[in-house]
Amino acid sequence: MPEKSSNVTWHSGAIDRAAREKLAGHRGAVLWFTGLSGSGKSTLAHAVEAALHARACRTYVLDGDNIRHGLNGNLAFSAEDRKENIRRIGEVAKLFQDAGVLTLTAFISPFRADREAARGIIGDGFIEVYVKASLEACEARDPKGLYVKARAGEIKDFTGVHQDYEQPDDPELVVDTESMTLEHEVAAVLDYLEARGIIPANAK
Ligand SMILES: Nc1ncnc2c1ncn2[C@@H]1O[C@H](COP(=O)(O)OP(=O)(O)OP(=O)(O)O)[C@@H](O)[C@H]1O
Ligand SMILES: [Mg+2]
Repeated sequence: MPEKSSNVTWHSGAIDRAAREKLAGHRGAVLWFTGLSGSGKSTLAHAVEAALHARACRTYVLDGDNIRHGLNGNLAFSAEDRKENIRRIGEVAKLFQDAGVLTLTAFISPFRADREAARGIIGDGFIEVYVKASLEACEARDPKGLYVKARAGEIKDFTGVHQDYEQPDDPELVVDTESMTLEHEVAAVLDYLEARGIIPANAK
């Protein structure tokens, strides 16, 4: 992490997170989807976003490749760069949460320590969703052809092939995309948000 800036003072305005949440009619939170490449993070995050949007919730998806085009375009896939990638996403997600937005992040985020660091940055609104699928299933899906390239040596540092994926120990939610349908996964996430009082209970 770069050295801390000096002579910077936090300025609080009159409008805080609670005020923004009141206006939105729901809480701000961060659904942190983690899992192997091809496990279904992007598919599920965008499906959950659509369902929340249909219920008039404010949403935003931070998705791996898109963020690496811009904000994190200078980072590669070494363990060190992955750590910085997740740290920046954690800070950005925290800002979105403070804005009263239901924020959905879709990053492999393979290392437990990095995810726990994000949990520490984001605080009480952090909801870890383990998007579970076996390496074999993800490799058979290979929606972006990345496993083929990784096996051929065209991609290095690929999770599941050259680097470990550390499964969450105690995630708030687990969705098994090998045994559940996308529809059921979305319902499980929305049920969780309702049960936690993050979104109002609604006739579905
Ligand atoms: N039940 C399911 N839930 C989610 N995705 C599923 C399910 N069944 C099959 N799939 C398929 O699995 C693939 C998941 O790809 P997706 O791009 O969402 O993965 P990802 O986790 O975002 O990967 P990456 O880390 O490379 O971005 C898609 O082709 C999707 O259609
Ligand atoms: Mg994705």
